[in-house]
Amino acid sequence: MKTHRIALYPGDGIGPDVLDAAVTVLRAASTKAGTFRVEYERFDWGMIHFDAHGQVAPDDFLATLRPFDAIFLGAVGWPARLPDHITLAPLIRLRQAFDLYACTRPARTFPGVPGPLRSGAPIDLVVVRENSEGEYVDNGGVLAVDTPNEVALQTAVHTRRGVERILRFAFDLARTRRRRLAMITKSNAQRYAYVLWDRVLAELGPQFADVSVEKLHIDAATLELVRRPETFDVIVGSNLFGDILSDLTGGITGSLGLNPSANLNPERRFPSLFEPVHGSAPDIAGKGIANPTGAILSAAMMIEWLGEADAALAIRNAVERTLAGRHLTPDIGGTLLTTEITAAVVQQLE
Ligand code: NAD
Ligand code: IPM
Ligand code: MN
Repeated sequence: MKTHRIALYPGDGIGPDVLDAAVTVLRAASTKAGTFRVEYERFDWGMIHFDAHGQVAPDDFLATLRPFDAIFLGAVGWPARLPDHITLAPLIRLRQAFDLYACTRPARTFPGVPGPLRSGAPIDLVVVRENSEGEYVDNGGVLAVDTPNEVALQTAVHTRRGVERILRFAFDLARTRRRRLAMITKSNAQRYAYVLWDRVLAELGPQFADVSVEKLHIDAATLELVRRPETFDVIVGSNLFGDILSDLTGGITGSLGLNPSANLNPERRFPSLFEPVHGSAPDIAGKGIANPTGAILSAAMMIEWLGEADAALAIRNAVERTLAGRHLTPDIGGTLLTTEITAAVVQQLE
């Protein structure tokens, strides 16, 4: 029987809770399918590791993760105890070192889950985020630290190769969906980097003439996503803009807790990373009320990536039926605990 080996990185706050939920559902899905096995190894990196060893992950954490078929992460960050740029560094390193350049973040509304927008039109879109360069490159420095003359420089890096491959990825994805692509930049103000995005889009367009293309600046995109979200299909943007837009698309579909993500190396030279879009949610951590949907749907994206499309579909259907049956956590208007909604999804699977 085929065996998939998964590295688990639960992280901080609600990370371990939603990761446990996803693993529980994945176990049920593989038992039900009977055609594949999933083996897990757990790495308690994050604040736990910091308390014991003085760093959030060991120096060789990339080498440790390299042999796995995929990596599943809960969430990282505990800003009250450690600055975010320290706790979050391994996550950004992982995305860049394993060339996980295609971050795919689907967001949709679900029957049974109230959304905040007046029109209530169904939303079904995917944010494709450039995940390996752009504004997240570790490139900069500070001068005259802690003086009135202090200078901080942080320079984004956008390469033609990087822009072209993410636009191709987004075009290809649009072809499997409603054939609409919206590219988000700020090329009216940032005239080098985002104008490169404009030029590469114009060059690729003729090869994807069957996909309709819209260009929006990030400010206009945030407005239009609130005003006419149902018109968006695939949205593509740089690392930072994709990050911002994926929290917004979480908000307009009802809760950030609903949204999954895949950080893909499409060439499969490295294990890909799967995680919910949300963070460690310190405001609700320890209460047992985190919405595990985003994590569970991330697990579905992961096994689909590993070739188990039927099991992925079974998980998605079980989640839909669970939400439609109004088994809801507090963030989406219910009263259930993380473990209760997880049990309901498992029951729907069986
Ligand atoms: P957050 O995503 O953790 O939380 C934002 C809001 O959404 C909070 O009110 C939270 O309670 C709510 N929320 C998020 N996930 C939820 C869920 N599953 N169920 C119910 N409600 C949910 O963002 P934040 O508060 O800005 O950041 C908290 C920490 O997480 C910070 O350290 C931040 O840097 C980090 N962070 C990590 C990741 C990641 O691990 N990939 C992503 C985003 C933020
Ligand atoms: C995300 C998060 C991360 C990001 C943080 C934790 C570095 O917000 O995955 O959306 O900005 O990429
Ligand atoms: Mn984010």
